[in-house]
Amino acid sequence: MTRRAIYPGSFDPLTNGHLDIIERSAKLFDEVVVAILLNFQKQPMFSVQERIEMIQAVVPYHNVRVDTFDGLLVHYALEQQAQVMVRGIRAISDYEYELQMALMNRRLEPTIETVFLMASEEYSYLSSRLIKEVFHLNGTITGLVPELVEQRMKEKSGGKSF
Ligand code: PNS
Repeated sequence: MTRRAIYPGSFDPLTNGHLDIIERSAKLFDEVVVAILLNFQKQPMFSVQERIEMIQAVVPYHNVRVDTFDGLLVHYALEQQAQVMVRGIRAISDYEYELQMALMNRRLEPTIETVFLMASEEYSYLSSRLIKEVFHLNGTITGLVPELVEQRMKEKSGGKSF
Protein backbone atom coordinates (compact mmCIF):
# COMPACT_ATOMS: atom_id res chain seq x y z
CA MET A 1 0.00 0.00 0.00
CA THR A 2 1.24 3.45 -0.86
CA ARG A 3 1.59 5.56 2.28
CA ARG A 4 0.38 8.98 1.24
CA ALA A 5 0.40 12.07 3.43
CA ILE A 6 -1.20 15.46 2.89
CA TYR A 7 0.63 18.51 4.19
CA PRO A 8 -2.02 21.26 4.12
CA GLY A 9 -1.66 24.98 4.68
CA SER A 10 -1.79 28.41 3.12
CA PHE A 11 1.97 28.67 2.48
CA ASP A 12 1.81 32.44 1.91
CA PRO A 13 4.75 32.27 1.60
CA LEU A 14 6.61 28.99 2.07
CA THR A 15 9.17 29.32 4.88
CA ASN A 16 12.24 27.26 5.73
CA GLY A 17 10.16 25.81 8.57
CA HIS A 18 7.65 24.46 6.01
CA LEU A 19 10.53 23.13 3.91
CA ASP A 20 11.95 21.34 6.92
CA ILE A 21 8.57 19.64 7.56
CA ILE A 22 8.30 18.70 3.87
CA GLU A 23 11.75 17.09 3.99
CA ARG A 24 10.90 15.09 7.13
CA SER A 25 7.57 14.00 5.62
CA ALA A 26 9.20 12.96 2.33
CA LYS A 27 11.43 10.57 4.30
CA LEU A 28 8.55 9.09 6.30
CA PHE A 29 5.95 8.59 3.57
CA ASP A 30 5.93 7.16 0.05
CA GLU A 31 4.16 10.24 -1.28
CA VAL A 32 3.56 13.70 0.13
CA VAL A 33 1.03 16.14 -1.27
CA VAL A 34 1.61 19.75 -0.27
CA ALA A 35 -1.97 21.03 -0.41
CA ILE A 36 -2.59 24.76 -0.65
CA LEU A 37 -5.92 25.96 0.69
CA LEU A 38 -7.90 27.88 -1.94
CA ASN A 39 -10.09 30.86 -0.99
CA PHE A 40 -8.21 31.59 2.15
CA GLN A 41 -9.92 34.73 3.48
CA LYS A 42 -7.03 37.07 4.23
CA GLN A 43 -5.60 39.11 1.38
CA PRO A 44 -2.72 36.86 0.29
CA MET A 45 0.70 38.18 -0.67
CA PHE A 46 1.05 35.57 -3.41
CA SER A 47 -1.58 34.12 -5.72
CA VAL A 48 -2.18 30.39 -5.46
CA GLN A 49 -0.44 29.93 -8.82
CA GLU A 50 2.63 31.82 -7.60
CA ARG A 51 2.74 29.73 -4.42
CA ILE A 52 2.46 26.49 -6.42
CA GLU A 53 5.33 27.55 -8.69
CA MET A 54 7.61 28.60 -5.83
CA ILE A 55 7.04 25.38 -3.89
CA GLN A 56 7.63 23.27 -7.00
CA ALA A 57 10.82 25.19 -7.72
CA VAL A 58 12.38 24.78 -4.29
CA VAL A 59 11.28 21.29 -3.23
CA PRO A 60 13.81 18.77 -4.56
CA TYR A 61 12.09 15.51 -3.54
CA HIS A 62 10.69 13.26 -6.26
CA ASN A 63 7.90 11.95 -4.00
CA VAL A 64 6.45 15.37 -3.20
CA ARG A 65 3.83 17.09 -5.36
CA VAL A 66 1.92 20.31 -4.97
CA ASP A 67 -1.86 20.61 -5.27
CA THR A 68 -4.71 22.84 -4.13
CA PHE A 69 -7.87 22.06 -2.20
CA ASP A 70 -11.14 23.62 -1.23
CA GLY A 71 -13.75 22.61 1.33
CA LEU A 72 -13.04 20.19 4.13
CA LEU A 73 -9.51 18.90 4.44
CA VAL A 74 -10.70 15.39 5.35
CA HIS A 75 -12.78 15.20 2.16
CA TYR A 76 -9.74 16.17 0.14
CA ALA A 77 -7.56 13.63 1.99
CA LEU A 78 -10.08 10.85 1.24
CA GLU A 79 -10.25 11.88 -2.40
CA GLN A 80 -6.45 11.69 -2.56
CA GLN A 81 -6.49 8.29 -0.83
CA ALA A 82 -4.18 9.62 1.86
CA GLN A 83 -3.99 7.98 5.27
CA VAL A 84 -2.24 10.82 7.04
CA MET A 85 -2.36 14.58 7.39
CA VAL A 86 0.86 16.22 8.54
CA ARG A 87 1.00 19.40 10.60
CA GLY A 88 4.09 21.12 11.90
CA ILE A 89 3.97 22.27 15.49
CA ARG A 90 6.35 24.80 16.93
CA ALA A 91 5.64 25.80 20.50
CA ILE A 92 3.06 24.62 23.02
CA SER A 93 0.93 27.56 21.89
CA ASP A 94 0.35 25.85 18.52
CA TYR A 95 -0.73 22.67 20.21
CA GLU A 96 -4.12 23.79 21.44
CA TYR A 97 -5.39 24.91 18.04
CA GLU A 98 -3.77 21.97 16.29
CA LEU A 99 -5.27 19.51 18.77
CA GLN A 100 -8.71 21.01 18.17
CA MET A 101 -8.32 20.66 14.42
CA ALA A 102 -6.91 17.15 14.66
CA LEU A 103 -9.74 15.97 16.91
CA MET A 104 -12.43 17.61 14.79
CA ASN A 105 -10.89 16.06 11.69
CA ARG A 106 -10.79 12.68 13.41
CA ARG A 107 -14.44 13.00 14.36
CA LEU A 108 -15.30 13.89 10.77
CA GLU A 109 -13.17 11.08 9.35
CA PRO A 110 -11.82 8.51 11.82
CA THR A 111 -9.78 6.64 9.20
CA ILE A 112 -7.35 9.52 8.68
CA GLU A 113 -4.64 10.24 11.23
CA THR A 114 -3.03 13.60 11.94
CA VAL A 115 0.70 13.37 12.51
CA PHE A 116 2.51 16.27 14.18
CA LEU A 117 6.11 16.89 13.21
CA MET A 118 8.54 19.33 14.77
CA ALA A 119 10.75 21.42 12.52
CA SER A 120 14.35 22.02 13.50
CA GLU A 121 14.54 24.36 16.51
CA GLU A 122 16.21 27.08 14.44
CA TYR A 123 12.86 27.51 12.66
CA SER A 124 10.65 27.04 15.69
CA TYR A 125 9.63 30.69 15.85
CA LEU A 126 8.93 31.15 12.13
CA SER A 127 5.54 31.83 10.63
CA SER A 128 4.48 33.20 7.25
CA ARG A 129 2.71 36.04 9.08
CA LEU A 130 5.86 37.12 10.93
CA ILE A 131 7.99 36.80 7.80
CA LYS A 132 5.64 39.18 5.94
CA GLU A 133 5.55 41.63 8.83
CA VAL A 134 9.34 41.76 9.21
CA PHE A 135 9.76 42.07 5.45
CA HIS A 136 7.23 44.91 5.15
CA LEU A 137 8.98 46.75 7.98
CA ASN A 138 12.32 46.43 6.16
CA GLY A 139 13.84 43.73 8.35
CA THR A 140 15.98 41.01 6.86
CA ILE A 141 14.42 37.60 6.22
CA THR A 142 17.50 36.04 4.64
CA GLY A 143 17.91 32.45 5.78
CA LEU A 144 14.30 32.22 6.99
CA VAL A 145 12.70 31.56 3.62
CA PRO A 146 14.15 29.93 0.48
CA GLU A 147 16.18 32.39 -1.65
CA LEU A 148 13.61 32.23 -4.44
CA VAL A 149 10.84 33.24 -2.04
CA GLU A 150 12.88 36.19 -0.76
CA GLN A 151 13.57 37.25 -4.33
CA ARG A 152 9.86 37.04 -5.28
CA MET A 153 8.92 39.04 -2.18
CA LYS A 154 11.36 41.77 -3.19
CA GLU A 155 9.95 41.79 -6.73
CA LYS A 156 6.44 42.21 -5.30
CA SER A 157 7.52 45.17 -3.25
CA GLY A 158 9.11 46.94 -6.23
CA GLY A 159 12.61 45.49 -6.24
CA LYS A 160 13.48 46.75 -2.79
CA SER A 161 16.55 45.04 -1.41
CA PHE A 162 18.10 45.11 2.01
O1 PNS B 1 -1.12 26.36 8.07
P1 PNS B 1 -2.44 27.07 8.01
O2 PNS B 1 -2.42 28.17 7.02
O3 PNS B 1 -2.87 27.51 9.37
O4 PNS B 1 -3.50 25.97 7.48
C1 PNS B 1 -4.76 25.80 8.00
C2 PNS B 1 -5.52 24.67 7.25
C3 PNS B 1 -5.51 24.89 5.76
C4 PNS B 1 -4.86 23.32 7.55
C5 PNS B 1 -6.96 24.63 7.80
O5 PNS B 1 -7.49 25.92 7.78
C6 PNS B 1 -7.89 23.70 7.03
O6 PNS B 1 -7.76 22.49 7.08
N1 PNS B 1 -8.85 24.27 6.27
C7 PNS B 1 -9.77 23.52 5.45
C8 PNS B 1 -11.19 23.54 6.00
C9 PNS B 1 -11.38 22.47 7.04
O7 PNS B 1 -11.21 21.29 6.82
N2 PNS B 1 -11.77 22.91 8.25
C10 PNS B 1 -12.00 22.07 9.38
C11 PNS B 1 -10.69 21.86 10.16
S1 PNS B 1 -11.04 21.09 11.68
